[in-house]
Amino acid sequence: MSVIYDSSTGQYSLHTENYSYIMLEKEGFLLHLYWGEKTFGDCTYMFREQGRAAFSPRMENCDGFILDDVPLEYPCWGRADMRTPALEITNPDGSVIVDLRVKNRRIEKGKPSIKGLPAIYVENEDECETLVVSMYDEVSNISVELYYCVLEKYDIITRFARIVNKGNDTVYINRAASCALDFDHINFDVISNYGTHCRERQIERASLKHGRFIMSSRRGASSHVHNPFMILTSPNADEVSGDAYGFVLVYSGSFSSEIAANQFDSARAVIGLNPENFTWRLDSGEEFTTPECVLSYSSEGLDTLSYNFSRVFRERLCRGKYRDIRRPVLLNSWEACYFSFDSDRLMKIGDSCAELGIELMVIDDGWFGKRDHDRCSLGDWFVNEQKLKGGIKRISDYLNEKGVKLGIWFEPEMISPDSELYQKHPDWCLHYKNRPRSEGRYQLILDLTRQDVCDYVFESVANILREGGISYVKWDFNRNMSEAGSILLDATRGREVDFRYYLGLYSVLERLNQEFPDVLFESCSGGGGRFDVGMLYYMPQVWTSDNSDAIERLRIQYGTSLVYPMSAMSAHVSASPNHQTGHVTSFYTRSNVALTGSFGYELDPTSLSVEEQKMVSETTRLFKEYGEILAKGRYHRLRDPHNEPCSAWCTVSEDKSVCIATYVLTHVRMYGNNERIKLRGLDHDAIYKERFSGVCYRGDQLMNFGLHAPISHEFGSILWILEKVEQ
Ligand code: GLA
Repeated sequence: MSVIYDSSTGQYSLHTENYSYIMLEKEGFLLHLYWGEKTFGDCTYMFREQGRAAFSPRMENCDGFILDDVPLEYPCWGRADMRTPALEITNPDGSVIVDLRVKNRRIEKGKPSIKGLPAIYVENEDECETLVVSMYDEVSNISVELYYCVLEKYDIITRFARIVNKGNDTVYINRAASCALDFDHINFDVISNYGTHCRERQIERASLKHGRFIMSSRRGASSHVHNPFMILTSPNADEVSGDAYGFVLVYSGSFSSEIAANQFDSARAVIGLNPENFTWRLDSGEEFTTPECVLSYSSEGLDTLSYNFSRVFRERLCRGKYRDIRRPVLLNSWEACYFSFDSDRLMKIGDSCAELGIELMVIDDGWFGKRDHDRCSLGDWFVNEQKLKGGIKRISDYLNEKGVKLGIWFEPEMISPDSELYQKHPDWCLHYKNRPRSEGRYQLILDLTRQDVCDYVFESVANILREGGISYVKWDFNRNMSEAGSILLDATRGREVDFRYYLGLYSVLERLNQEFPDVLFESCSGGGGRFDVGMLYYMPQVWTSDNSDAIERLRIQYGTSLVYPMSAMSAHVSASPNHQTGHVTSFYTRSNVALTGSFGYELDPTSLSVEEQKMVSETTRLFKEYGEILAKGRYHRLRDPHNEPCSAWCTVSEDKSVCIATYVLTHVRMYGNNERIKLRGLDHDAIYKERFSGVCYRGDQLMNFGLHAPISHEFGSILWILEKVEQ
């Protein structure tokens, strides 16, 4: 049993395969006791009332119980806890108080879904046990159910809260986090992602100091800037040792993740919707459910924490037929042609794809309306017959005959002011009356809080897909929100737009998933501006970054690997010199870097030399052979490109019979780069033969001494493929 409640002591114990999470019910409060390596028995002694008031008020009738000094599971604003709350509500009388006490609890088999929101799922009830703790505020008649879903085998606990207004009048939720958690010390490093367009998900690590450390987005998208996750580690934790706690939010809009070191040297983590951009009107009888937060812990450092997250997201968050199969090798037309193509050019590219073994060709931006540049036509999702004579069908028939599938780009959430759609529906975009509408990339965002607009977005994509011949959709989102008002929402609901927008978007994506189960959807937002597990629920891969430079991708991919599965990361070989950075990199290095994720090309195959064509065929063959292992195997970070003059990583198949390892040198130090790369995750006693050199090694040699990486020129690299041989 993974959830145990002891009514004699009030102790709640949640056990996964490798850790325990323990709480205590006391005076009606739900207190946090422990989260760490597996621990059993009566843990109630862990709660020590220290009585540290230090100007903080006491609770009435609770001798010495100082709310500001106890570890809470779902802290509320308004009483005597002065730290960051998880829940804040304005009552009908104007008071801003919620005072929740536990009323009862239940333990259920399986895992509930969350209506309208993406969430982890299970395939049978035995995979999960769920604890629901029901709390109530007798004065405001607010009930809150706290959900704890324990996926024992995955070492995962998920949390969310369901808030119901049982009173007769309207209340306003000002803040409703998915998860809050108190630690009794502040000896943590905080690891997070930061970045911008073309430089997403860089890693930053800092030791926690007193005060609040907040990573967030107010941009109406999870964004390039911060990613909706947070990792806390013990100060010396590394890839293979030390405590590592992770929190990942399953949401694609504005979020906040905070870790605060408070006055008594205790720390509080709070993760959820960004309260700076949020108020929710909850009428009598209505309920509100927060997005889900996914938690994991490892006592063996970051490698295992990343493994726990990537495994559960790949196996129990991603859905559909592509979840478990190798993704097709694709060629995307963007960096090959940008806007300048016609059917003839595309068919020539298709010929090359067929010759080189590339399985899918994607027509990126520019095939619809009158779009020859980025200043028009978003919303007009009909084929530009001047460019594509005979329409999409003609191209897909042509390609299919050659064994190549067709994919297509959409940016369905957007509207160009210069479009037929805008002529007809100038009020369909997010905006406020009498305010200017700021354009980003000459475009506005459709108001997906409206059902009629959601229906239009769904139909415009579905109509094209219903014509047949399309196996893949790249779904883009190329600006963030500003002046995000909806003219159909009344004045009390202005701060509901972000969340309502995502409910609308998720409903459209769900309908598309249901109607087109055979189409592979790839999410994109100027690359990785919405690389989050919310989107992954509907689309199992994401265009990782608009920066396709292999060297720049090293950090981006390294940062992404902290919580995301490699199969989620689209990685393409692009031209050299690279279009974004001008870096000149060998084809070998570009393909070695791209081989880490869902593999493809972002170049014009008709302009390749014979030598390059041979390399494309060979690399494509390699991905077809090893793509499944690369997706499902265990990924290990070996060298950190943020701190070292190189990067290295390896992926080991589940049965440890194959290991694919890569090393890239990013900065030459004269006579100083004779690296040895120690692999991880192999069978100690097994013999592995390296595919390209034919040399055999023992697993323990590969892990304890490692492989020489004799690269002495900048941007050089090595790919090793090691396969177990009979001993
Ligand atoms: C975004 C995407 C690119 C490409 C362009 C097309 O920037 O990230 O990959 O699709 O849009 O306009």
